[in-house]
Amino acid sequence: MSERTGSGDSARKRSRPAKKTAIVTGASSGIGEATAEALATDGLAVVLAARRVEKLDSLAARIESIGGDALVVPTDMTVESDLVSLVETVIDECGRIDVLVNGAGFGLYGSVEETPIDEARHQFEVNLFGLARLTQLVIPHMREAGRGTIINISSMGGKIWTPFGAWYHATKHALEGWSDCLRYEVAPHGIDVVVIEPGSIDTEWGDIMFDGLLERSGDGPYAELVHEFVNSNRAGSGSDPTVVATTIRNAVRATNPNPRYAVGAYAKPLIGLRRFGGDRVYDRVVEYLL
Ligand SMILES: NC(=O)c1ccc[n+]([C@@H]2O[C@H](COP(=O)([O-])OP(=O)(O)OC[C@H]3O[C@@H](n4cnc5c(N)ncnc54)[C@H](OP(=O)(O)O)[C@@H]3O)[C@@H](O)[C@H]2O)c1
Repeated sequence: MSERTGSGDSARKRSRPAKKTAIVTGASSGIGEATAEALATDGLAVVLAARRVEKLDSLAARIESIGGDALVVPTDMTVESDLVSLVETVIDECGRIDVLVNGAGFGLYGSVEETPIDEARHQFEVNLFGLARLTQLVIPHMREAGRGTIINISSMGGKIWTPFGAWYHATKHALEGWSDCLRYEVAPHGIDVVVIEPGSIDTEWGDIMFDGLLERSGDGPYAELVHEFVNSNRAGSGSDPTVVATTIRNAVRATNPNPRYAVGAYAKPLIGLRRFGGDRVYDRVVEYLL
C-alpha cells in the first residue's frame, strides 16, 4: 500500500507494518530512487522523501506493484519543519526507523570567484546541514531501539577534487569527517554509520552540475578552462545507479558493515591515485584529463 502524507497534506493513518522501515532521502531520482527500490525488494517498508512529489508517487506505485510498502513524504532538506514532520510521520505511520539513507544532494560547480556565497551556503544546507539535522532527529529513535543503520552518501569527491567543484567537494570532504565522528559516538548504541563513495554515476546529477557550471562560469575569466572541462567530461561514461543501490542494500543486510564503500566508475582508481600518488601526481592527472 502506498500512501502520501507530510507537509501540506493531511496525514492518513495506515496499519503499522511490522516490517523494518527505511527512510530514503533523494528518492525522486538516481541513486536514492534505485536504493529505495532495492530495499523494498529486500522486504523493507520504504519512506520516500524529496521535493518532486509526482516522481515519488510513481516510484511508490512501482514498489506497490511488486508487493512492497511505500510512504511518500514531500520533503525539502533545507526546511526544518519538513524534516521534523518527516520523522514524526514515519514514527506515527510505521512505528520504527531501522535505516536512514541520506541520499539527497546536488553538485554546485562554478569558479570560487564567480559563485555567489549564498549559493555556497545553500549547497552546505542541502548536502551537509539538512542531512545532519535529519540524522539528529532520527538518532533518538534508533538509540531507543538499540539498533539502526545510517547510510551517508558522500562521493569519491569526498576524497579527491575535480575542477570548479570547490563548494561541492567542501561539503563531501566535510561529510566524510562528520560521519567518522558520528560512527564512534553511536556505535555503543548499536547504530552503524556507513559512508558510500560513488564514482561517476549516470543520474540527473551530471546535467544539474554542468548546466550550473556553464551558467556561473561559462562566460567569464575561467571560460576557456570551464568549456574544456565540460567538453571532456559531459559525455556520460558512468555506472548505473543500481550498482550503488546494490552496495547500499548489502551494507544494510550486513551485521558488521564496513565504515566505507567506494563504488562505481572511477571511484576506486581515483581515490587510490590521490592517496598513493599524492597531490602532485593527482594534479597532473587532472590536467591530463582536461
Ligand atoms: N551521480 C553521481 O555521479 C554522483 C557521484 C558521487 C556522489 N553522488 C551523490 O549521490 C547523491 C544522489 O545523487 P544522484 O546522483 O542520485 O543525483 P540526482 O539524480 O540528481 O538525485 C538527487 C536527489 O536529491 C534530491 N534533492 C536535491 N535537493 C534537495 C532538497 N533541497 N531537498 C530535498 N531533496 C533534494 C532530489 O530530489 P528533488 O529534486 O525532487 O527534491 C533528487 O531526488 C548526492 O548526494 C550526490 O552528490 C552522485
